[in-house]
Amino acid sequence: VEGAGPVVAVLGGGQLGRMLGLAGIPLGLRFRFLDPSPDAAAAAVGALRVSSLHDADAAAALAEGAVVVTYEWEGVPGPTARAAGARAPLRPNARALEVAQDRLAEKTMLARLGLPVPAFAPVDGRGGLDEAVGRLGLPAVLKTRRGGYDGKGQRVLRTAGDLDEAWAALGDVPLILEEHVAFDRELSIIAVRGLDGTTACYPLVETEHGGGILRATRAPAPGPAEAGQAAADAIARRVADELDHVGTLAVELFERDGRLLVNELAPRVHNSGHWTIEGAVTSQFENHLRAILGWPLGSVAARGHSGMVNALGTLPDRERVLAVTGAHLHDYGKGPHPGRKVGHVTVTADTSAARDQGLAAIRAVVDGR
Ligand SMILES: Nc1ncnc2c1ncn2[C@@H]1O[C@H](COP(=O)(O)OP(=O)(O)O)[C@@H](O)[C@H]1O
Ligand SMILES: [Mg+2]
Repeated sequence: VEGAGPVVAVLGGGQLGRMLGLAGIPLGLRFRFLDPSPDAAAAAVGALRVSSLHDADAAAALAEGAVVVTYEWEGVPGPTARAAGARAPLRPNARALEVAQDRLAEKTMLARLGLPVPAFAPVDGRGGLDEAVGRLGLPAVLKTRRGGYDGKGQRVLRTAGDLDEAWAALGDVPLILEEHVAFDRELSIIAVRGLDGTTACYPLVETEHGGGILRATRAPAPGPAEAGQAAADAIARRVADELDHVGTLAVELFERDGRLLVNELAPRVHNSGHWTIEGAVTSQFENHLRAILGWPLGSVAARGHSGMVNALGTLPDRERVLAVTGAHLHDYGKGPHPGRKVGHVTVTADTSAARDQGLAAIRAVVDGR
Protein backbone atom coordinates (compact mmCIF):
# COMPACT_ATOMS: atom_id res chain seq x y z
CA VAL A 1 0.00 0.00 0.00
CA GLU A 2 1.42 3.36 -1.00
CA GLY A 3 2.25 5.56 1.96
CA ALA A 4 2.04 2.68 4.36
CA GLY A 5 4.89 2.38 6.84
CA PRO A 6 7.81 -0.02 7.02
CA VAL A 7 7.11 -3.64 7.86
CA VAL A 8 8.57 -5.38 10.91
CA ALA A 9 8.58 -9.19 10.72
CA VAL A 10 8.27 -10.96 14.06
CA LEU A 11 9.00 -14.65 14.71
CA GLY A 12 6.36 -15.69 17.24
CA GLY A 13 2.94 -14.14 17.68
CA GLY A 14 2.10 -14.31 21.39
CA GLN A 15 1.33 -11.48 23.77
CA LEU A 16 4.85 -10.08 23.45
CA GLY A 17 4.34 -9.72 19.71
CA ARG A 18 0.96 -8.16 20.32
CA MET A 19 2.47 -5.57 22.66
CA LEU A 20 5.26 -4.86 20.14
CA GLY A 21 2.54 -4.15 17.60
CA LEU A 22 0.62 -1.95 20.01
CA ALA A 23 3.80 0.08 20.56
CA GLY A 24 4.79 0.25 16.90
CA ILE A 25 1.54 1.21 15.23
CA PRO A 26 1.70 4.83 16.50
CA LEU A 27 5.22 5.02 15.03
CA GLY A 28 3.78 4.18 11.62
CA LEU A 29 5.04 0.60 11.56
CA ARG A 30 3.22 -2.43 10.20
CA PHE A 31 3.68 -5.95 11.50
CA ARG A 32 3.79 -9.52 10.25
CA PHE A 33 3.94 -12.45 12.65
CA LEU A 34 4.81 -16.13 12.26
CA ASP A 35 3.11 -18.42 14.76
CA PRO A 36 1.81 -22.01 14.72
CA SER A 37 -1.54 -20.99 16.23
CA PRO A 38 -4.32 -19.46 14.12
CA ASP A 39 -5.52 -17.83 17.37
CA ALA A 40 -2.16 -16.14 18.07
CA ALA A 41 -2.61 -13.06 20.27
CA ALA A 42 -0.62 -10.83 17.91
CA ALA A 43 -3.06 -11.37 15.02
CA ALA A 44 -5.01 -8.38 16.38
CA VAL A 45 -2.19 -6.00 15.43
CA GLY A 46 -0.75 -7.35 12.19
CA ALA A 47 -0.80 -9.98 9.50
CA LEU A 48 -0.47 -13.51 10.85
CA ARG A 49 1.20 -16.27 8.91
CA VAL A 50 0.31 -19.61 10.47
CA SER A 51 3.18 -22.05 10.35
CA SER A 52 5.53 -23.99 12.57
CA LEU A 53 8.51 -22.01 13.83
CA HIS A 54 10.58 -24.92 12.55
CA ASP A 55 9.53 -23.91 9.03
CA ALA A 56 12.55 -22.00 7.74
CA ASP A 57 10.90 -21.33 4.38
CA ALA A 58 7.91 -19.70 6.06
CA ALA A 59 10.26 -17.56 8.15
CA ALA A 60 12.17 -16.48 5.04
CA ALA A 61 8.90 -15.58 3.29
CA LEU A 62 7.81 -13.62 6.37
CA ALA A 63 10.97 -11.55 6.31
CA GLU A 64 10.87 -10.87 2.57
CA GLY A 65 10.32 -7.15 2.06
CA ALA A 66 10.43 -6.35 5.78
CA VAL A 67 12.86 -3.68 7.00
CA VAL A 68 13.89 -5.80 9.95
CA VAL A 69 13.08 -9.18 11.49
CA THR A 70 12.96 -9.84 15.20
CA TYR A 71 11.67 -12.54 17.56
CA GLU A 72 9.38 -12.48 20.56
CA TRP A 73 10.02 -16.07 21.69
CA GLU A 74 13.48 -17.41 22.47
CA GLY A 75 12.49 -20.95 21.49
CA VAL A 76 12.67 -19.96 17.81
CA PRO A 77 15.06 -22.52 16.30
CA GLY A 78 18.38 -21.00 15.21
CA PRO A 79 18.00 -22.19 11.59
CA THR A 80 14.57 -20.51 11.36
CA ALA A 81 16.00 -17.24 12.62
CA ARG A 82 18.96 -17.49 10.26
CA ALA A 83 16.70 -18.20 7.27
CA ALA A 84 14.66 -15.10 8.09
CA GLY A 85 17.88 -13.17 8.67
CA ALA A 86 18.99 -13.90 5.12
CA ARG A 87 16.06 -11.80 3.83
CA ALA A 88 16.10 -8.88 6.26
CA PRO A 89 18.43 -7.81 9.09
CA LEU A 90 17.83 -10.08 12.10
CA ARG A 91 17.91 -8.13 15.37
CA PRO A 92 18.81 -9.27 17.95
CA ASN A 93 21.21 -11.55 16.09
CA ALA A 94 21.10 -15.35 15.98
CA ARG A 95 23.93 -15.76 18.46
CA ALA A 96 22.05 -13.85 21.15
CA LEU A 97 19.13 -16.18 20.50
CA GLU A 98 21.18 -19.36 20.51
CA VAL A 99 23.12 -18.52 23.67
CA ALA A 100 19.96 -17.63 25.58
CA GLN A 101 18.10 -20.77 24.52
CA ASP A 102 20.69 -23.11 26.01
CA ARG A 103 21.11 -22.68 29.77
CA LEU A 104 24.57 -24.27 29.67
CA ALA A 105 25.84 -22.02 26.87
CA GLU A 106 24.35 -19.04 28.70
CA LYS A 107 25.94 -19.77 32.07
CA THR A 108 29.24 -20.74 30.45
CA MET A 109 29.37 -17.38 28.67
CA LEU A 110 28.45 -15.46 31.82
CA ALA A 111 31.14 -17.26 33.81
CA ARG A 112 33.70 -16.61 31.07
CA LEU A 113 32.87 -12.91 31.27
CA GLY A 114 33.56 -13.02 34.98
CA LEU A 115 29.92 -12.27 35.83
CA PRO A 116 28.47 -13.78 39.01
CA VAL A 117 26.39 -16.94 38.42
CA PRO A 118 25.25 -19.78 40.69
CA ALA A 119 27.58 -22.78 40.63
CA PHE A 120 26.55 -25.07 37.77
CA ALA A 121 27.52 -28.27 36.02
CA PRO A 122 26.40 -29.97 32.80
CA VAL A 123 24.54 -33.25 33.26
CA ASP A 124 24.63 -35.96 30.61
CA GLY A 125 23.16 -39.31 31.57
CA ARG A 126 22.01 -40.65 34.94
CA GLY A 127 25.59 -41.31 36.07
CA GLY A 128 26.44 -37.73 35.20
CA LEU A 129 23.71 -36.55 37.56
CA ASP A 130 25.26 -38.38 40.53
CA GLU A 131 28.62 -36.90 39.61
CA ALA A 132 27.24 -33.34 39.35
CA VAL A 133 25.42 -33.68 42.68
CA GLY A 134 28.66 -34.92 44.18
CA ARG A 135 30.37 -31.74 43.00
CA LEU A 136 27.68 -29.15 43.80
CA GLY A 137 25.98 -30.76 46.77
CA LEU A 138 22.30 -30.41 47.72
CA PRO A 139 19.93 -28.63 47.56
CA ALA A 140 20.30 -28.06 43.84
CA VAL A 141 18.08 -27.36 40.85
CA LEU A 142 18.06 -29.70 37.86
CA LYS A 143 16.93 -28.04 34.61
CA THR A 144 16.61 -28.99 30.98
CA ARG A 145 19.20 -27.06 28.99
CA ARG A 146 16.61 -26.13 26.37
CA GLY A 147 12.92 -25.44 26.12
CA GLY A 148 12.13 -24.59 29.76
CA TYR A 149 9.95 -21.60 30.61
CA ASP A 150 7.65 -20.46 33.42
CA GLY A 151 9.35 -22.95 35.75
CA LYS A 152 8.65 -25.88 33.39
CA GLY A 153 11.49 -28.33 32.81
CA GLN A 154 13.07 -28.06 36.25
CA ARG A 155 13.07 -29.86 39.59
CA VAL A 156 14.52 -28.92 42.97
CA LEU A 157 16.65 -31.69 44.46
CA ARG A 158 16.69 -31.63 48.25
CA THR A 159 17.80 -35.13 49.19
CA ALA A 160 19.51 -37.99 47.36
CA GLY A 161 16.10 -39.65 47.22
CA ASP A 162 14.84 -36.92 44.83
CA LEU A 163 17.28 -37.78 42.03
CA ASP A 164 15.48 -40.73 40.45
CA GLU A 165 12.12 -38.98 40.33
CA ALA A 166 13.63 -35.79 38.87
CA TRP A 167 15.61 -37.76 36.32
CA ALA A 168 12.49 -39.63 35.23
CA ALA A 169 10.41 -36.45 35.08
CA LEU A 170 12.84 -34.43 32.96
CA GLY A 171 13.75 -37.25 30.62
CA ASP A 172 16.99 -38.29 29.08
CA VAL A 173 17.80 -34.91 27.52
CA PRO A 174 20.79 -32.61 28.08
CA LEU A 175 20.44 -31.07 31.54
CA ILE A 176 22.19 -28.60 33.78
CA LEU A 177 22.49 -28.75 37.56
CA GLU A 178 22.64 -25.50 39.50
CA GLU A 179 23.28 -24.73 43.11
CA HIS A 180 19.96 -23.86 44.78
CA VAL A 181 20.32 -20.20 45.70
CA ALA A 182 18.78 -19.14 49.01
CA PHE A 183 18.13 -15.67 47.64
CA ASP A 184 16.71 -12.77 49.64
CA ARG A 185 14.75 -11.65 46.61
CA GLU A 186 14.65 -11.77 42.83
CA LEU A 187 15.33 -8.77 40.62
CA SER A 188 15.34 -8.04 36.92
CA ILE A 189 17.00 -5.46 34.76
CA ILE A 190 15.83 -4.55 31.29
CA ALA A 191 18.45 -3.05 28.98
CA VAL A 192 18.00 -1.73 25.49
CA ARG A 193 20.96 -1.52 23.16
CA GLY A 194 20.78 0.48 19.96
CA LEU A 195 22.28 -0.28 16.57
CA ASP A 196 25.20 2.03 17.37
CA GLY A 197 25.91 0.23 20.66
CA THR A 198 24.35 2.89 22.87
CA THR A 199 22.80 1.12 25.86
CA ALA A 200 20.24 2.30 28.37
CA CYS A 201 18.99 0.38 31.40
CA TYR A 202 15.58 0.75 33.00
CA PRO A 203 15.35 1.01 36.78
CA LEU A 204 15.95 -2.28 38.55
CA VAL A 205 12.74 -4.18 39.26
CA GLU A 206 11.80 -6.55 42.08
CA THR A 207 10.20 -9.73 40.77
CA GLU A 208 8.16 -12.27 42.63
CA HIS A 209 7.70 -15.81 41.30
CA GLY A 210 5.33 -18.54 42.39
CA GLY A 211 5.73 -22.06 41.06
CA GLY A 212 8.44 -20.75 38.73
CA ILE A 213 6.06 -18.23 37.06
CA LEU A 214 6.36 -14.47 37.39
CA ARG A 215 3.50 -13.24 39.59
CA ALA A 216 4.27 -9.58 40.26
CA THR A 217 6.85 -6.84 39.81
CA ARG A 218 7.58 -3.64 41.68
CA ALA A 219 9.39 -0.86 39.84
CA PRO A 220 11.65 0.71 40.80
CA ALA A 221 12.71 -2.07 43.17
CA PRO A 222 12.09 -0.98 46.76
CA GLY A 223 15.02 -0.22 49.01
CA PRO A 224 18.24 1.73 48.50
CA ALA A 225 18.70 1.46 44.76
CA GLU A 226 22.03 2.94 43.75
CA ALA A 227 24.43 0.06 44.44
CA GLY A 228 22.20 -2.66 43.03
CA GLN A 229 21.28 -0.55 40.02
CA ALA A 230 24.91 0.10 39.16
CA ALA A 231 25.85 -3.57 39.52
CA ALA A 232 22.88 -4.78 37.47
CA ASP A 233 23.52 -2.12 34.84
CA ALA A 234 27.13 -3.23 34.49
CA ILE A 235 26.08 -6.88 34.07
CA ALA A 236 23.45 -6.09 31.44
CA ARG A 237 25.81 -3.84 29.48
CA ARG A 238 28.60 -6.43 29.54
CA VAL A 239 26.24 -9.12 28.22
CA ALA A 240 24.68 -6.86 25.57
CA ASP A 241 28.10 -5.76 24.31
CA GLU A 242 29.45 -9.32 24.27
CA LEU A 243 26.51 -10.55 22.20
CA ASP A 244 26.47 -7.42 20.02
CA HIS A 245 22.84 -7.44 21.03
CA VAL A 246 20.47 -4.97 19.37
CA GLY A 247 17.10 -4.48 21.02
CA THR A 248 15.68 -5.18 24.46
CA LEU A 249 17.50 -7.64 26.72
CA ALA A 250 16.29 -8.88 30.09
CA VAL A 251 18.57 -10.17 32.83
CA GLU A 252 16.96 -12.09 35.70
CA LEU A 253 18.91 -11.82 38.94
CA PHE A 254 19.04 -13.26 42.43
CA GLU A 255 19.99 -10.98 45.31
CA ARG A 256 21.72 -12.68 48.23
CA ASP A 257 23.33 -10.76 51.07
CA GLY A 258 23.28 -7.61 48.96
CA ARG A 259 25.10 -9.27 46.05
CA LEU A 260 23.72 -10.15 42.64
CA LEU A 261 23.86 -13.48 40.79
CA VAL A 262 22.62 -13.86 37.22
CA ASN A 263 19.82 -16.40 36.87
CA GLU A 264 19.03 -16.16 33.18
CA LEU A 265 18.93 -13.96 30.10
CA ALA A 266 16.13 -13.24 27.64
CA PRO A 267 17.20 -11.62 24.35
CA ARG A 268 13.80 -10.00 23.90
CA VAL A 269 11.07 -7.99 25.53
CA HIS A 270 10.21 -9.60 28.85
CA ASN A 271 7.35 -9.99 31.31
CA SER A 272 9.35 -8.19 34.01
CA GLY A 273 9.34 -5.12 31.74
CA HIS A 274 5.60 -4.88 31.14
CA TRP A 275 5.37 -2.14 33.76
CA THR A 276 7.24 0.16 31.36
CA ILE A 277 4.13 0.56 29.16
CA GLU A 278 2.59 2.96 31.66
CA GLY A 279 5.44 3.27 34.17
CA ALA A 280 8.33 4.51 32.04
CA VAL A 281 8.74 7.41 29.65
CA THR A 282 9.30 4.91 26.79
CA SER A 283 8.15 1.30 27.01
CA GLN A 284 10.44 -1.69 26.52
CA PHE A 285 8.38 -2.50 23.39
CA GLU A 286 8.78 0.91 21.77
CA ASN A 287 12.47 0.94 22.67
CA HIS A 288 12.96 -2.53 21.21
CA LEU A 289 11.52 -1.26 17.93
CA ARG A 290 13.53 1.96 18.01
CA ALA A 291 16.69 -0.08 18.60
CA ILE A 292 16.18 -2.67 15.87
CA LEU A 293 15.23 0.05 13.37
CA GLY A 294 18.34 2.07 14.19
CA TRP A 295 16.24 4.93 15.57
CA PRO A 296 17.15 7.02 18.62
CA LEU A 297 16.26 5.32 21.90
CA GLY A 298 13.64 6.86 24.16
CA SER A 299 14.12 7.74 27.81
CA VAL A 300 14.06 4.73 30.13
CA ALA A 301 13.22 6.84 33.19
CA ALA A 302 10.42 5.67 35.44
CA ARG A 303 7.35 7.81 35.86
CA GLY A 304 6.65 7.42 39.55
CA HIS A 305 6.15 3.92 40.97
CA SER A 306 4.60 0.94 39.24
CA GLY A 307 3.38 -2.49 40.17
CA MET A 308 2.43 -5.27 37.77
CA VAL A 309 0.43 -8.42 38.44
CA ASN A 310 0.10 -11.28 35.96
CA ALA A 311 -3.29 -12.82 35.29
CA LEU A 312 -2.76 -16.57 35.03
CA GLY A 313 -5.38 -18.97 33.73
CA THR A 314 -8.31 -16.57 33.51
CA LEU A 315 -8.75 -12.81 33.37
CA PRO A 316 -9.79 -10.95 36.51
CA ASP A 317 -13.12 -9.15 36.61
CA ARG A 318 -12.68 -6.18 34.29
CA GLU A 319 -14.78 -3.69 36.18
CA ARG A 320 -13.24 -4.52 39.55
CA VAL A 321 -9.76 -4.02 38.07
CA LEU A 322 -10.69 -0.72 36.47
CA ALA A 323 -12.20 0.51 39.73
CA VAL A 324 -8.73 0.45 41.36
CA THR A 325 -7.06 3.89 41.22
CA GLY A 326 -4.17 3.92 38.79
CA ALA A 327 -4.91 0.46 37.37
CA HIS A 328 -4.42 -0.43 33.70
CA LEU A 329 -5.75 -3.71 32.31
CA HIS A 330 -4.03 -5.65 29.54
CA ASP A 331 -6.15 -8.45 28.08
CA TYR A 332 -4.09 -10.54 25.64
CA GLY A 333 -7.19 -11.88 23.93
CA LYS A 334 -6.23 -15.49 24.70
CA GLY A 335 -8.54 -18.28 25.79
CA PRO A 336 -8.45 -19.42 29.42
CA HIS A 337 -6.11 -22.27 30.30
CA PRO A 338 -4.59 -23.25 33.66
CA GLY A 339 -1.32 -21.39 34.27
CA ARG A 340 -1.41 -19.53 30.94
CA LYS A 341 -0.49 -15.84 30.95
CA VAL A 342 -3.75 -14.31 29.69
CA GLY A 343 -3.20 -10.72 30.74
CA HIS A 344 -1.66 -8.40 33.26
CA VAL A 345 -2.57 -5.35 35.30
CA THR A 346 -0.25 -2.45 35.97
CA VAL A 347 -0.86 0.07 38.68
CA THR A 348 0.94 3.41 38.73
CA ALA A 349 1.27 5.78 41.67
CA ASP A 350 3.26 8.77 42.87
CA THR A 351 4.75 7.05 45.92
CA SER A 352 5.90 3.53 46.69
CA ALA A 353 3.37 3.31 49.52
CA ALA A 354 0.49 4.18 47.17
CA ARG A 355 1.88 1.72 44.63
CA ASP A 356 1.96 -1.06 47.21
CA GLN A 357 -1.60 -0.26 48.20
CA GLY A 358 -2.72 -0.41 44.58
CA LEU A 359 -0.79 -3.62 44.07
CA ALA A 360 -2.53 -5.24 47.03
CA ALA A 361 -5.92 -4.17 45.68
CA ILE A 362 -5.11 -5.58 42.24
CA ARG A 363 -3.83 -8.85 43.69
CA ALA A 364 -7.06 -9.28 45.62
CA VAL A 365 -9.04 -8.94 42.38
CA VAL A 366 -6.69 -11.17 40.37
CA ASP A 367 -6.77 -13.82 43.10
CA GLY A 368 -10.58 -13.61 43.11
CA ARG A 369 -10.79 -12.44 46.72
N1 LIG B 1 19.31 -22.03 41.06
C1 LIG B 1 18.16 -21.61 41.59
N2 LIG B 1 18.05 -21.38 42.93
C2 LIG B 1 16.90 -20.97 43.48
N3 LIG B 1 15.77 -20.75 42.77
C3 LIG B 1 15.80 -20.95 41.45
C4 LIG B 1 16.99 -21.39 40.79
N4 LIG B 1 16.73 -21.49 39.49
C5 LIG B 1 15.44 -21.12 39.33
N5 LIG B 1 14.86 -20.80 40.49
C6 LIG B 1 13.46 -20.33 40.70
O1 LIG B 1 12.65 -20.76 39.62
C7 LIG B 1 12.25 -19.65 38.82
C8 LIG B 1 12.23 -20.02 37.33
O2 LIG B 1 13.53 -20.47 36.95
P1 LIG B 1 14.29 -19.93 35.66
O3 LIG B 1 15.63 -20.56 35.65
O4 LIG B 1 14.22 -18.47 35.63
O5 LIG B 1 13.49 -20.60 34.48
P2 LIG B 1 12.33 -20.10 33.54
O6 LIG B 1 12.94 -20.13 32.18
O7 LIG B 1 11.25 -21.10 33.71
O8 LIG B 1 11.95 -18.70 33.97
C9 LIG B 1 13.22 -18.54 39.18
O9 LIG B 1 12.67 -17.26 38.91
C10 LIG B 1 13.43 -18.81 40.66
O10 LIG B 1 12.33 -18.35 41.42
MG1 LIG C 1 13.20 -17.13 34.47
